[in-house]
Amino acid sequence: MDDLTFLLVVSSLILSFYFILNRKFASKPLNLPPGPPKLPIIGNLHQIAGALPHHAFHDLSKKYGPIMHLQLGQISTIVVSSPQLAKDVFKTNDLALASRPYTLLGDIVLYRSSDVALGPYSDYWRQMKKIISVELLSAKKVRSFRCFREYEVDHFIDFIRSNCGKPVIMRDKVTRMINNIVCKSSFGDNCNQQDVLIELVDELGRLVSGFSIADLFPEFGFLSVISGMKSNLTNIHKSLDKIFDDIFQERKMKRLRKENAEDDLLDVLFNIKEGGGLQVPITDDNIKAIFVNIFVGGTDTSAMTIEWAMTEMMRNPNVMEKAQNEVREAFKGKKNIIESDLPELVYLDFVIKETLRLHPSLPLLLPRECREQCQINGYDIPVKMKVIVNAFSCAIDPEYWDDPESFKPERFEKSSVDFTGTNFEFVPFGSGRRMCPGIGFGVISVKSALAQMLYYFNWKLPSELGPKDIDMTESEGGVALKKIPLMITPTLYTSC
Ligand code: HEM
Repeated sequence: MDDLTFLLVVSSLILSFYFILNRKFASKPLNLPPGPPKLPIIGNLHQIAGALPHHAFHDLSKKYGPIMHLQLGQISTIVVSSPQLAKDVFKTNDLALASRPYTLLGDIVLYRSSDVALGPYSDYWRQMKKIISVELLSAKKVRSFRCFREYEVDHFIDFIRSNCGKPVIMRDKVTRMINNIVCKSSFGDNCNQQDVLIELVDELGRLVSGFSIADLFPEFGFLSVISGMKSNLTNIHKSLDKIFDDIFQERKMKRLRKENAEDDLLDVLFNIKEGGGLQVPITDDNIKAIFVNIFVGGTDTSAMTIEWAMTEMMRNPNVMEKAQNEVREAFKGKKNIIESDLPELVYLDFVIKETLRLHPSLPLLLPRECREQCQINGYDIPVKMKVIVNAFSCAIDPEYWDDPESFKPERFEKSSVDFTGTNFEFVPFGSGRRMCPGIGFGVISVKSALAQMLYYFNWKLPSELGPKDIDMTESEGGVALKKIPLMITPTLYTSC
């Protein structure tokens, strides 16, 4: 055999081996997690239909384990339900799982998903997440909005004062107060058409679940049309776009006239846009997408946390009494409570934590999508797989929590467990790269409002209801809102 033939034989052998190995490797079946039996077309949808998804997933996980594979319509989905495996999502595989799945809502309402919450992972996304975390919602920036919060909470307390002795459904007023804070922080005094804005934000909050028929069967585009989803989202988008457009045009004129800088979030974003120097230049539409996130992410979540906290305290009078004693002791005789007084209220912090544990606003967080194949607990997670962490399951895992279903703020007294994303049994704001950037903004508004509600008033249930009769059912949709709004009667606490 001459040298050339030898070379040819060796190289063809190497090539054949390469192709055989490659084919063998490529065709290696995926080792997916276990899951319930699937039906044709709908997959496992029938097993979650009619129940709240986080409860349905929780029940299924008791049978199929802390990591399950489900076929939800056309969407292959992994559901993780234990703190140990949540750690594998948020820490070990955070980068591989840092994307978000496509949603029709993101596409239509969020300017082709160019927002932070539903946008896919990319250089552009990383830049925007940095802007929102560092420039818009940093601790310093949040502190600078203190005057808006104090004004709006005072206003809300005045409303309660004027309704003393009458039963109040406070949900709308609480939502209004939080939305005013978000609006003023975003646009200063230029918040026109706020009522429409609140309605749109409310509707979007309900649609953001990702379990819409359009998202479960994306290949059947006609479903989004006949279900009315597409036209619904298009109308919401048009209305929001018009409101933002008007505010933006007015602000641009102001800036041209070089009138006083507002120092609100809109000015910060316009300064960043006009300053250049961004790796990926941004447009007005990108800024609008960020504001949709701020309005939707910042309004209902905080408002519903206030309602659940009051609900749990009405159900647990000993907790109410302890929280009222704390605030009344700390501020004895004070006419006004200001934000710098709040750090003293340690028990109230525990009440808020315990509320977020049992009533996380987004019990399934926001779904992630796999961008690089990885493994969780020895199972394969292929590219494009949707990954859901059931934060609700983690927060009631009996291996981590004593008497997990009971509302006991005291459990945090001797525990360092916090919602900052490092304790995977308690992730009401998520964790890792996709964690909520609005924790500081949200929690301070919740705490300010609750502190004053407890300081100035005593609260009573309607006479026919005992504490344990309060209906705790959650409404359907992506957010865990109390189905029946809380109705309670304030009476003025006489010694202040
Ligand atoms: C009590 C109040 C709040 C709660 C319970 C809450 C909860 C959450 C949760 C669970 C997520 C998903 C995290 C994940 O997928 O891992 C999230 C994401 C997000 N939140 Fe919040 N949030 C609150 C307040 C706010 C506020 C005040 C803002 C803005 C002003 C905000 C803006 C966002 C944004 C932009 C994201 C998307 C982050 C990303 O995908 O990287 N949130 N929030």
